[in-house]
Amino acid sequence: MDFKNRTAVVTGAARGIGRDIAIKLAERGANVALIDLEIAGAEETAKECETHGIQAKAYKCDVSSFEDVDGVGKQVLSEFDAVDFLINNAGVVRDRLLLRMTPEDWNFVISVNLTGTFNCCKVLSPHMLKRRQGRIVNVASVIGIMGNAGQANYAASKAGIIGLTKTLAKEFASRGVTVNAVAPGFIDTAMTESLSADIRESMMKMIPLGRFGKGEDVANVALFLLSDMASYITGQVLNCDGGMIMAR
Ligand SMILES: NC(=O)c1ccc[n+]([C@@H]2O[C@H](COP(=O)([O-])OP(=O)(O)OC[C@H]3O[C@@H](n4cnc5c(N)ncnc54)[C@H](O)[C@@H]3O)[C@@H](O)[C@H]2O)c1
Repeated sequence: MDFKNRTAVVTGAARGIGRDIAIKLAERGANVALIDLEIAGAEETAKECETHGIQAKAYKCDVSSFEDVDGVGKQVLSEFDAVDFLINNAGVVRDRLLLRMTPEDWNFVISVNLTGTFNCCKVLSPHMLKRRQGRIVNVASVIGIMGNAGQANYAASKAGIIGLTKTLAKEFASRGVTVNAVAPGFIDTAMTESLSADIRESMMKMIPLGRFGKGEDVANVALFLLSDMASYITGQVLNCDGGMIMAR
């Protein structure tokens, strides 16, 4: 896959899956604009990406704030020639059973995961539609398809991302912009490392391939969906879960 002279905006690129997506894109020649709340981590990712001889810059931005995204979007468009790819990856969890979940827990997760994805699509898609080219990849989750006790807010946000993906795919198709989602299963990152040994063990039993995923497993799927090989694919959700959903 060759992404030379293409530019990607990756959200949540300070660590984990977003960092892996950014680095894999840079390795294949893409310029990268990296968005994260954690600017130090995003700058470190940018530094690593630059070693591949491409243009990389980190931007501090809270994706749940439309004003933040609008401001950073304008900055990115003035500092890079164009934006070809948008990867909406920034995400959070705040797990609790519904009986204990507060409205703040609910709103926090929905506003980062779902509204954040809406904000970035809203700000960057007009540019893609005008150029009649572009690809958007949204990072959903198998939890948005199968549900999970203790994750009502997260599951709803990820199911919402799937609905948003399919709708934008229909709205943008005639202008050559594809919109797809990748739905990771259990991936070893900061997001999952705090889970207890018991939960990790019970999760492992649900994974036919017998291992947790790595960030680069998800990054590979994202890169495929961004590549010319996926030019006839839109509105799809590609599970990257070691067979977890199939095994339900
Ligand atoms: N790890 C998994 O098992 C798993 C499974 C399914 C889906 N996912 C999804 O993959 C994506 C990446 O997850 P990860 O495991 O790499 O998590 P992570 O916690 O390691 O990384 C998330 C990144 O998003 C950033 N972020 C959080 N809130 C933000 C905000 N408001 N604005 C901008 N940036 C923000 C964080 O600073 C961090 O760099 C998330 O959308 C997550 O829901 C992860």
